[in-house]
Amino acid sequence: MSSLTNKRILLGVSGSISAYKSPDIIRRLQDLGADVRVVLTSGGAQFITQLSLQAISQHSVHDNLWDKEAELSMSHIELAKWADLILIAPASANTIANLVNGQACDLLTSVILATDARLMIAPAMNQQMFQSQPLQDNLTQLRHRHIAIIKPDSGAQACGDIGPGRLPEALDIAKQVAKQLESTQLSGKRVLITLGATIEPIDPVRFISNHSSGKMGMALVNRCIEMGAKVTCVYANINAALNDKATNIQALSADQMHEVVMNNIDQQDIFIAVAAVSDYQVKTQQQQKIKKSKQSLILELAPNKDILADVCKLPNKPWCIGFAAETQNTIKNAEIKLKNKGCDAVILNDVSDTNIGFNNDENQVTFISKKQQKNISKNSKSKIAEKILNIFIKEFL
Ligand code: CTP
Repeated sequence: MSSLTNKRILLGVSGSISAYKSPDIIRRLQDLGADVRVVLTSGGAQFITQLSLQAISQHSVHDNLWDKEAELSMSHIELAKWADLILIAPASANTIANLVNGQACDLLTSVILATDARLMIAPAMNQQMFQSQPLQDNLTQLRHRHIAIIKPDSGAQACGDIGPGRLPEALDIAKQVAKQLESTQLSGKRVLITLGATIEPIDPVRFISNHSSGKMGMALVNRCIEMGAKVTCVYANINAALNDKATNIQALSADQMHEVVMNNIDQQDIFIAVAAVSDYQVKTQQQQKIKKSKQSLILELAPNKDILADVCKLPNKPWCIGFAAETQNTIKNAEIKLKNKGCDAVILNDVSDTNIGFNNDENQVTFISKKQQKNISKNSKSKIAEKILNIFIKEFL
């Protein structure tokens, strides 16, 4: 089982009947080796006493933003800095709404604003409240901010209703926390990732591009950040939300992307080339819009520089992972790319299958290195990213 040895968990307990499970959550986290401190909201205090939480955590419980004594022992800023992870369990609908709005109306929400620790919340409430549109919209916003949401259990509720909204068992929550924190295998590593579809202008209104959405690349950016890496995200045209924890640099054309990558590649430990880079650019870009005529139009194209191949040629090259978008002889073509570009691994994407790959939320790939060939079966792009990185780390780091 995953361990939480030396990990510092701040448990936020907000107003829900399931707060009675909080002491058990503390115990299960401690069983895995965590040091646990507790922030209790006024709503939470309606359901569980400060004394119980103090007795189990063996630390005084923080419950008031304005408590002079508590601020002397550990201020809300210190608490925010102390934690490796903040878990709110149970997270009430009100606390969730406050998080979405960036409120600092009590100690818990103030700590959350002041922390760069990872955040997890375990919503727990009446099934109707849980399924309500505002609550679901709020959860979607928190997901976009990369706050991990523990799915509530479904079943009989304290109020007599039956449905989703029950706080999961304490052991289950503790295991999910451990899983979040175990992924620190890239901490201290610098990763540069290219993504999206480059754009090669023809004239001021037209361009050559491709179907890449940048979703696979963003999934890798997000996962690398979750695993503790410092990520530089060099993006072309994308249809995916940027992660503000990365250094984001836009580079629309292949030439711009080449320049940005080369200027930022020093000090990188890993380079992941996910971008679908145009192989050609228009030789003479027209400054004015090309007017229609009855004649056929011939555009002369000049080859672009190969960013991945150029990074692989650097004397102190980082570990390099390329992507191979193929429609036929897929394995063979990917192996040729691995060899010709000189990279350490290639992720083969069969782009002839329209249910996966380009612009889809799911993908199915093969990890290919000199040593191994591993199929990663169809899954969400975020799961695929996790699996690619796990295989890569196992083989190379
Ligand atoms: N790549 C790159 N610079 C280019 C072209 C491709 O960095 N000018 C990278 C891509 O980001 C990807 C890998 O090389 O990681 C393979 O890209 P792909 O488009 O599959 O192959 P190409 O090298 O362009 O070859 P082909 O189009 O002939 O399949």
